Amino acid sequence: MQTKLFGLTLKSPIIIGSGPLTYGAEGMIRLHNAGAGAVVTKTIRMAAAVNANPHMLLSGRDSLINCEKWADFPAAQWIEREIPQAKKAGVTVIASIGMSAGEVSELCAPIASAGADIIEVVSYDHNDIPDMVRAARAKTKLPILAKLPPLACDVVKLAGDCLAAGADGITGFDSFGQVLRIEVTTGRPLLGGVKGAGWLSGAAIKPLVLYKISELRKAYSCPIIGLGGVTSAEDALEMLMAGASVVGMCSAVILRGPEMLSPLLKQMAQLMEKYNYSSLEELCGLSLSYLDAKENVGKLSFTYNEHNCTNCRRCVVVCPYQARELSQDKVMRLNQDKCRYCGLCGSVCAVKALTYRRI
Ligand SMILES: Cc1cc2nc3c(=O)[nH]c(=O)nc-3n(C[C@H](O)[C@H](O)[C@H](O)COP(=O)(O)O)c2cc1C
Repeated sequence: MQTKLFGLTLKSPIIIGSGPLTYGAEGMIRLHNAGAGAVVTKTIRMAAAVNANPHMLLSGRDSLINCEKWADFPAAQWIEREIPQAKKAGVTVIASIGMSAGEVSELCAPIASAGADIIEVVSYDHNDIPDMVRAARAKTKLPILAKLPPLACDVVKLAGDCLAAGADGITGFDSFGQVLRIEVTTGRPLLGGVKGAGWLSGAAIKPLVLYKISELRKAYSCPIIGLGGVTSAEDALEMLMAGASVVGMCSAVILRGPEMLSPLLKQMAQLMEKYNYSSLEELCGLSLSYLDAKENVGKLSFTYNEHNCTNCRRCVVVCPYQARELSQDKVMRLNQDKCRYCGLCGSVCAVKALTYRRI
């Protein structure tokens, strides 16, 4: 499933976001061989990071919190060894540089000379990012991505400032934070960093990322990497429909391994065929025309298929208005006077025995 990004041909539309999987050439080559279209290096700074431990933690089923810093290889090693080796193996390398304009100024040209295809700038402080873009633009003709944080600022305005400063595209988004988890046996934070704080990523952040990507796409036509919460082929299509040009993934690939990429790409192709979508370009921003000021105030029309029903009764349990009834022998009833047509009963039905359409 080839696609293009800044004129480069990528073997797939899945880009692996900066993180532990892209710690060095070895990790990046593994991702490339597993089907990634491009990989973003772990964020490179002049000096190597020393991480607090533990610095990664499962939180919920498909989400992570982490307080991992930038790369634990120094910049010189990335320039002399990691990027050239990954390039030699055919990897499309997006070099992530942080976390200040001064560091970008120093590192951008040597990293570009080492063979990076695209530069991405990222910072803990979103106010720094436009200046970092300017610093990169002064040093390279390579395409520049500005990676944005999802919260703490008006991302549409920040993206505009970055594009005006010379960015060619936007990566949306970094992980969300800061967040906290606590060990109940001791009361201590589960992560080992400053204040026990971390950053949230994975499935938990997907709906917020989708909304913000749609806002960015309404405002700008530049390439957008939609990164945050994608764990499945359906998620990838959602991300494209919200307005992403290509799909970023980090946490799900950490949790399931790079081997998940090949079946995910196959499923994406199957879903596109099933629903008659002819190309990735057709999917990009497909939902935007529905995201207008009109509300759907009509009722819902429910369909119940007793053959699919396992009588788990989840639809009954979740109805806040006690409008659903389901007998032992699978006779489903809806009290129309009580029902507010919220849709929750249909949305919790895992086997699609209870479905609805808008009327
Ligand atoms: C353990 C971990 C380390 C990360 N390190 C970096 C980093 O060094 N630089 C960066 O720009 N983003 C980093 N990220 C953020 C990811 O690139 C990505 O923006 C975020 O996780 C959202 O995508 P996801 O929900 O698919 O994981 C890291 C994420 C995780 C989980």
